[in-house]
Amino acid sequence: MRTQYCGELSTALIDQSVTLAGWVHRRRDHGGVIFIDLRDHSGLAQVVCDPDRADAFAAADRARGEYVLRISGVVRHRPEGTVNPNMRSGAVEVFAHAVEVLNPSATPPFQLDDDNLSEGVRLEHRVLDLRREQMQRNLRLRHRAASAARRFLDAHGFVDIETPVLYKSTPEGAREFLVPSRLHDGHFYALPQSPQLFKQMLMIAGFDRYYQIVKCFRDEDLRADRQPEFTQIDVETSFLEEGEIRALMESLVRAIFRDSIGVELPDPFPVLTYDDVMRDYGSDKPDLRVPLKLTELTDVMQDVEFKVFSGPAKSPGGRVAALRVPGGGALTRGEIDGYTEFVRTSGAKGLAYIKVNDRAAGADGLQSPIVKNLHAGALAAILERSGAENGDLLFFSADRASVVNEALGALRQRVGHERGLAQSGWRPLWVVDFPMFEFDEDSKSWKARHHPFTSPKDGHEGFVETAPERAYAKAYDVVLNGWEIGGGSVRIHRQEVQQQVFRALKISPEDQRAKFGFLLDALQYGAPPHGGIAFGFDRLVTLMVGAEAIRDVIAFPKTQRGQDLLTGAPSPVTEQQLRELHIRLRNRQGGG
Ligand code: AMO
Ligand code: AMP
Repeated sequence: MRTQYCGELSTALIDQSVTLAGWVHRRRDHGGVIFIDLRDHSGLAQVVCDPDRADAFAAADRARGEYVLRISGVVRHRPEGTVNPNMRSGAVEVFAHAVEVLNPSATPPFQLDDDNLSEGVRLEHRVLDLRREQMQRNLRLRHRAASAARRFLDAHGFVDIETPVLYKSTPEGAREFLVPSRLHDGHFYALPQSPQLFKQMLMIAGFDRYYQIVKCFRDEDLRADRQPEFTQIDVETSFLEEGEIRALMESLVRAIFRDSIGVELPDPFPVLTYDDVMRDYGSDKPDLRVPLKLTELTDVMQDVEFKVFSGPAKSPGGRVAALRVPGGGALTRGEIDGYTEFVRTSGAKGLAYIKVNDRAAGADGLQSPIVKNLHAGALAAILERSGAENGDLLFFSADRASVVNEALGALRQRVGHERGLAQSGWRPLWVVDFPMFEFDEDSKSWKARHHPFTSPKDGHEGFVETAPERAYAKAYDVVLNGWEIGGGSVRIHRQEVQQQVFRALKISPEDQRAKFGFLLDALQYGAPPHGGIAFGFDRLVTLMVGAEAIRDVIAFPKTQRGQDLLTGAPSPVTEQQLRELHIRLRNRQGGG
């Protein structure tokens, strides 16, 4: 149907006949001459329709935005002064000999080049939204990234094996989506949160190295970096030590960045322990572009008069820490109040501060409502440890460590970017040595931090049941610019260790059999040492294209409320469908 893509036109084709096909991006009537910017995925071509060519002109005259046209003509230089250096085909135009309307279009609900569309409008009219240059670019980059991953994994002996989507309910952490079974009254499949146990069983089955670019399903509260169905690059290996797995996976990330956006990531990625990043950044996914670290003050605040600080400093699990904001002395009262409001969302009860006006002047050089309640030794330690200089401001948080970390971690990120302190570029890192368990205050029980199939660190097996808080895991995350882009672990390959962990999680022997019997059985037949990782593919691509939300790199995403505005999912179903599935809805108005 065509000889060229619109964006491929160049001066190399001058005087040649070409045929293009695409959509009317813009149509301008210049008193007798009609200009059409014809668009296909490769870009735009300017087409000139002259009334002398009556048929072509008449068709061009009828054409409107998003009409589909086929245009034949001759490539020529654009007149002097009308060359567009920002466009690949900006030096040339096509003088049309024939214009054919292949399909007209209804008037689109928005201009495709409008940059201020609401997301609701975009998602409702996703087909048109996807025609936009940015979305074309995002999804093509996604394709290149997936291809790069496959090339790398193929070259390193990984086998792509599909795993079931209709799965068994085996809680891994997030809430599951359930699928009722028609053939088995009262029974349900679950959609997998990840192929975790299948990939482990593939290792036990001897496949050595597995990968899959795979959809995962989690019925969790949605955010900018979360979708109910999302894509992982899921990987598992056998007979590799933790360090070997990380080295290999780090090369995979580097290959994806190199091949899809030409970026050379640092080699090697820095490796920080969980305890280190929590202490220094208050977050297990620190954005290393922000060159600020927290200052530990718990020990020096035990004996100060200020109860807000001494209370948490003295209580087990409490923490007092500070964040130094270079140049923060310039912050206004209103800005400080704004940040105080901001940390409240993390549960912090306040945000004390000290402005360092004149460090040499001791307490007199410090401007703050709290200075009078802190003794000289504490003030000296604050200044010494934080390295505060004249003109800086220190923010303080005192509470349970989890609250302090969340508050100051988020504040560090926000202040760093807002005050222009963040560096540019790519700052990946590994976070390693996660605790095996975390205590869930709601259920008053221990939960697996990663998942219950993660191996304790060597020598920590004994803590699993006796002192869960002391057990650390062979678990690791990859973090990039403040986003957790991947997480994995070395797995438990010995049945008795797996049972130990289940017991620590208070999963009864009956429940172990009912939920994980298939895993425990497989583990008895010579399971090899194995481990792996899964990357959040949507997040990786979002970072690479510089988008804010992963919705911008997914062709047909859900809204924050889990809806597909294009097709209208989720939607009610008929009584007949429900009956077949043995389901009766509760509280349904007028329903059965
Ligand atoms: P995990 O639960 O850490 O590990 O998930 C791996 C990566 O997937 C991404 N991710 C998400 N992306 C978008 N929307 C979501 N709702 C979402 N949830 C997670 C994150 C995360 O780092 N089976 C293990 C992996 C393993 O141990 O090998 C797992 O799923 O980027
Ligand atoms: P107050 O004594 O409540 O007037 O608080 C004095 C200062 O301490 C104010 O700037 C509060 O924002 C701050 N503040 C209160 N609670 C905390 C806390 N838990 N951590 C840090 N600062 C706090």
